[in-house]
Amino acid sequence: MSYNFDEIVNRYGTSSIKWDLNAPKNQAGATRPIPMMIADMDLKCPPAIIEAMRRVAERGVYGYTSHFAEPRYLAALCDWYGRRYGTVIEEDWVLYSTGSVTGINCAVNAFSSPGDGVIIMSPVYGHFRDMIENETYRRVVDSHLINTDGYYTVNWADFEEKCAQPTNRVFILCSPANPVGRVWSEEELRRMADICKRNHVTLISDEIHSDIVRSGVTHTTILKAAADHSNIIMINGVNKSFNVAGLHCANVIIPDENLRGIFKSRFGEHLPSPFSVAALIAAYDESEDWLDALNKYLDDNIDFAMDFIKERMPGVKIRRPEGTYVLWLDFSGYGLSGEEIHRRIYDNARVLLQDGLVHDLRGGECFQRICIPVPRALLEEALTRIAAQLEPIPAACAIKV
Ligand SMILES: Cc1ncc(COP(=O)(O)O)c(C=O)c1O
Repeated sequence: MSYNFDEIVNRYGTSSIKWDLNAPKNQAGATRPIPMMIADMDLKCPPAIIEAMRRVAERGVYGYTSHFAEPRYLAALCDWYGRRYGTVIEEDWVLYSTGSVTGINCAVNAFSSPGDGVIIMSPVYGHFRDMIENETYRRVVDSHLINTDGYYTVNWADFEEKCAQPTNRVFILCSPANPVGRVWSEEELRRMADICKRNHVTLISDEIHSDIVRSGVTHTTILKAAADHSNIIMINGVNKSFNVAGLHCANVIIPDENLRGIFKSRFGEHLPSPFSVAALIAAYDESEDWLDALNKYLDDNIDFAMDFIKERMPGVKIRRPEGTYVLWLDFSGYGLSGEEIHRRIYDNARVLLQDGLVHDLRGGECFQRICIPVPRALLEEALTRIAAQLEPIPAACAIKV
């Protein structure tokens, strides 16, 4: 089946955070902003999900729902992991969560105490820092990644040293890595897992972006890579992959019974809606070809963006991400301050991105993150607006007479 990802879907008036809250239509006299800061797609989700939503809506009763009451929910998830990732998941290991961040938050609370260190690897999804400091009152311990021409790798000596400190109790891994686009190799993952195990650090692997990878790249789950699962929590969901984040459907997967028991005693039981149960089943059982087509469209969007940037914004450094649908743009080549870059893009070009400092307090000043799962025409319009603010002023215009 073919899918038309070029279709522009009007999201104004849909209670969208991205379009209605952050980029409202009715700003007097101003050019309408293009919001490309939030990791949700402006692309319609798979027809099987739309049809499943219609069937649920038509029932007219939306009472309390449990995924345990629908055997296909857990079976579809386990089949998906077996089929796509060669990873065995047992149904008992799976706990429904309204979001991956909700699951991570609970795991941090369950496996550390206020004041303890929680290790992250910046640049990384900024909400981790926020949650650690402002929601769970732990300390951020940043084992900063090493940037070699836009390719980010782990600083192993530093990571090992940070894991060895007894008050650093939890490591939150972003796999694939948002915003730097790495898909960690099996070897890298095994090494991270071994270091955590040896040092009694609980490893939470946020794999919410795992279904979005470039062609030829394979995501390895932490459960496949790690020899020992006794300290491992893996989190995934259909939210990102199938563009159903508003349905709040993620899963916390904990193979170890003891670890799962501790987590559950904090987490309690979260109930899905009838829509989220139906969406997961329709996604995993009926929408695999859509996901493959989506990945192809995103590959092409990335190629388009990279060619455009190379030609029209030569001062921007960019590396093709191995996974995710975000690009991590380094504007340092223009010699402008972070503030000036922000002003030109957000205020002048009217394109809303995410400042690099959100994801990397130490080195993010001249970076911007752009989310590209949008129709190509919109991507082109956004990049054209930004490029116009960066082009050198032609000499003839610069001289005012
Ligand atoms: C790495 C990462 N984790 C978690 C989330 C949020 O996911 P959820 O809506 O399932 O909490 C995002 C959203 O952008 C993300 O990029």
